[in-house]
Amino acid sequence: MADRQRLETTERAPGARMLLVLDEERRRVARELHADFSQRLALLAIDLEQLAGSPPKSRPEWDDRLRTMCSRTQDLASDAHRLSHQLHPSNLENLGLVAAVRSYCREITRQTNVAVGFSEANPSGSLPSEVQLALYRILQEALRNVIKHSGSKTAQVELKGEANAICLVVSDSGKGIAVEVAKETSGLGLVSMQERARLVGDAISIGPSPSGGARVEVRIPLEPI
Ligand SMILES: Nc1ncnc2c1ncn2[C@@H]1O[C@H](COP(=O)(O)OP(=O)(O)OP(=O)(O)O)[C@@H](O)[C@H]1O
Ligand SMILES: [Mg+2]
Repeated sequence: MADRQRLETTERAPGARMLLVLDEERRRVARELHADFSQRLALLAIDLEQLAGSPPKSRPEWDDRLRTMCSRTQDLASDAHRLSHQLHPSNLENLGLVAAVRSYCREITRQTNVAVGFSEANPSGSLPSEVQLALYRILQEALRNVIKHSGSKTAQVELKGEANAICLVVSDSGKGIAVEVAKETSGLGLVSMQERARLVGDAISIGPSPSGGARVEVRIPLEPI
């Protein structure tokens, strides 16, 4: 997205900002598909051609080459799974919010150098699907920011059922976030979190955590059953 367009994002109507956010998400996936996946597949194809064209003389060398290719193929499969999950979190439909959030925290812990702890209290019964999706997307962006900006090695995710509300808190113990400065950046993550929270009826608070890192809290009101 052009810098000028990004800078204007915060001045646009909420609907238009959301469209820009969605467009930026698609660009991110397209970039990853193009720059990463297609190149890795092309390299793998070249290696396979070489293997067929001039096969190794010894059995151990064969084994070695095949093992390496096998592990690259497995990496590609798990990265494709991660990317498809970013596009549409099927876990949410299959497992429900609490289990999907727990599983996502484990996935981030496994795949990055940030260890994400998860706790839940008073789980609510069934939640509207748009509330689940909004919370899950906010969680994804908040953790992406922890990994990308905080320098923290740990993060804590809490999901709390309250009387007539559900609350999600994501905190880290990194360098902290200067919210006024952060708003001036060209990123769309904070805007997208705000828009998603607003669409399901509430604002989001982004500020310092007790340990000096960053803290994102969203509390979504629920209709009494
Ligand atoms: N957990 C965090 N710790 C420290 N700084 C943060 C944290 N989260 C956000 N920031 C700061 O806030 C800025 C804005 O975040 P935002 O998510 O909007 O943009 P981005 O992550 O830079 O880009 P994008 O989300 O579009 O990929 C970041 O550039 C960073 O300086
Ligand atoms: Mg971001």
